[in-house]
Amino acid sequence: MVIGDISKSIRRVDAVAKSEGKTRYVADLPFENCLWGRLVRSSIPRGLIKSIHVPDLPEGYRFITYKDIPENGHNYLHMIATDWKCFAENDVRYVGETIGIMVGPDKDTVERLRLQVKIDYEEQTPAVTIDEGLQCKGGAFVNDNNIFCQLKLDVGDVDKAFEKADRIVTETIETGFQEHIYLETNGACCIPEGDHYTIYASAQCPFYIAKSISPLLGITPDKVVVKQVATGGAFGGKEHFPDVVAGPLLVASYVMKKGVKMFFDREEDIENSVKRHPSKIFFRTGLDKDGNILAIESKICYNVGGYLASSFVVLQRGCFHVTGCYRFPNMRTQGLGVATNTFPSCAFRGFGAPQTLFAIETHMSHIAELYGIDPLEYKSRYFIKQGDVTSTNGRIVERVMIPEMLEQVLKASDYKRKAKEYKWGSGRGIGISFYNHGGAFTGNGEQAIIKAKCRLHKFPNGNVEILCGQTEMGQGLQTILPKIAAQVLEIPIEKVIFQNPDTSRVPDSGPTAASRSTMIVGELVERAALLMKDRYNTETEFTVETNYQHPEGYPWDQTTFQGYAYLGYGWGVCAVEVEVDPCTGEVTTKGIWSSHDGGHLIDEKIVHGQVNGGVVQGLGWGSTEVMQNIGGHFKQTSLSDYIVPTSMDFPKQEVFFVENPYQWGPFGAKGMGELVFNGSAAAYIDAVSRAIGKRISSIPLPTEDVMLYMLHGVNIDEKDKTDLTGVKEAK
Ligand code: MTE
Ligand code: MOS
Repeated sequence: MVIGDISKSIRRVDAVAKSEGKTRYVADLPFENCLWGRLVRSSIPRGLIKSIHVPDLPEGYRFITYKDIPENGHNYLHMIATDWKCFAENDVRYVGETIGIMVGPDKDTVERLRLQVKIDYEEQTPAVTIDEGLQCKGGAFVNDNNIFCQLKLDVGDVDKAFEKADRIVTETIETGFQEHIYLETNGACCIPEGDHYTIYASAQCPFYIAKSISPLLGITPDKVVVKQVATGGAFGGKEHFPDVVAGPLLVASYVMKKGVKMFFDREEDIENSVKRHPSKIFFRTGLDKDGNILAIESKICYNVGGYLASSFVVLQRGCFHVTGCYRFPNMRTQGLGVATNTFPSCAFRGFGAPQTLFAIETHMSHIAELYGIDPLEYKSRYFIKQGDVTSTNGRIVERVMIPEMLEQVLKASDYKRKAKEYKWGSGRGIGISFYNHGGAFTGNGEQAIIKAKCRLHKFPNGNVEILCGQTEMGQGLQTILPKIAAQVLEIPIEKVIFQNPDTSRVPDSGPTAASRSTMIVGELVERAALLMKDRYNTETEFTVETNYQHPEGYPWDQTTFQGYAYLGYGWGVCAVEVEVDPCTGEVTTKGIWSSHDGGHLIDEKIVHGQVNGGVVQGLGWGSTEVMQNIGGHFKQTSLSDYIVPTSMDFPKQEVFFVENPYQWGPFGAKGMGELVFNGSAAAYIDAVSRAIGKRISSIPLPTEDVMLYMLHGVNIDEKDKTDLTGVKEAK
């Protein structure tokens, strides 16, 4: 099929195999003659390992620990920071920390032997929550203050603005853990093959795995060949975590000189994998007598867990997004990554931005209510525009189409009538939120760190293969990249080949993360196809290669975090309408309307799918997805107690887009895979809050908690408006 307008949808390349059940995921593959592996993990959140008792092992079975790492290797995984150990040595920092791997030929025997390994600990008092981490409960275990990382941002003169303020309000907003619940759980197989090891894994970033685990054996990354197998979903949960799975497998197959495989079941996966960072965000906002914002100060604390890994980068993105879609004259932001004894937190769709975006939206709505102004009207005063200064003293480069997007959402949802008609606490409410997401790596990261490369190869039969490290994980990339190449080359998409990456065959085009694959790598494919086009009809077989080039004139300083953090943002507006049962607190969502700016869309239906999924994933984070950590242990460990919304829980969405081509993207496209997650929770909470007539400053909000708010919350109608839940006068 030759493509017409690139936005017009075609059938997804992976649709038939997936819907017929023919796609084989990692645990479906035979991996014959391989041993089975099962991890022995810490059962306590913090303590010293006094002794390990290993049962007598039959021939062919072995328990492997850090002691099996060769002398020229080191026991760390490289995941941006290099602090997360592959195997615990003398101490443990979280429940689920890998202590060793039991391997052998029979799966059930491996499991039986694993359960017989007994660890004696000297237990220490854990710090589980952000507060406990900050208070150094049980003594600091990172630096002398349990702060892994921090940063500060300043725009304007905050102190002077506060001096002029008539009123200062403070508020704390909190968000919880979230589990990814990707389609299939984590799993991998490592096979020694000649001079290298081959890793087969369900993963987002094959090159990350090779870089992260090869130092375990003191070998170079090219000696660990990673082949991604079909990945049904990842959402950030398979960005770095596959290293934690593949690392012990690599050491085990080095020791056993055989292939070793390991697949988690759902319970093991939920209990022992990374989560979204819980957050606690403090605001201090200075207002003039009419309620205009003079300055906003924020302190953003993320629960990092036991090891830093990629969390500083997550925290940075969170801090850069704390001003949301607004322009404030004076702002000061402090970010703190707090060490606790929970499973290390990691990437999750939005990468730190959803927490701060939820916080600023909710805080702005609360200030509006304080002055009796509709939140929409209040927020409209501050909408950021092209050329405005950002939280990092850069400027917005592109046109911001929030007014146009808002118009679409207002019209479809009938927001203005409903907002007026549904009185505070009337059992009905409509809420609205504004959000964005900076596309690709922050600042000069693409240029300085990633340096993406991509190749196109033409075969004599006219077929063209895309060679890059990007992965399909449900977001549609196996269709998107071939569509771009086919469109430029004016050939049928069936002639374009794009396979799951194998690091020994493809150049490193960077991770499939930060919503960068279409925006950055898609542009490399577009440019490579343009280079190929002139020669396509005259040369039988050849290869072209493109490298990332950063537009000039948009400086970024990664030591001070100053400058142009992002050249192109995705933008979003979302409205949610709810009805709350006055007896039970049960919330029924009556409507969901959204508009998004993803530039010129490469395939409307795929993007529509991203919106449907992302918006509901955000609603789950804001409502039903309760993940508690009690004493270091996750309490919800299955899909019957960790409640992920299904298509029965929310109504059909009305989805709009605006056309805003991005000057550096392929066909004008930019990133939108994470954007669509970033705003629905705030709109939902705004709606529920109006329906029950109570301020809500923390998520998730399951039905049980709606009841609590209804019974015990502070009602704005009855109380002094300056004495509200979470909002107190500071002056
Ligand atoms: N959509 C599906 N179906 N499955 C996923 O795992 N991951 C999200 C988003 N959409 C994900 C998804 C995340 S976390 C990111 S960073 C982007 O897709 C990555 O895809 P892109 O680089 O192609 O934009
Ligand atoms: Mo996405 S959280 O950047 O994998």
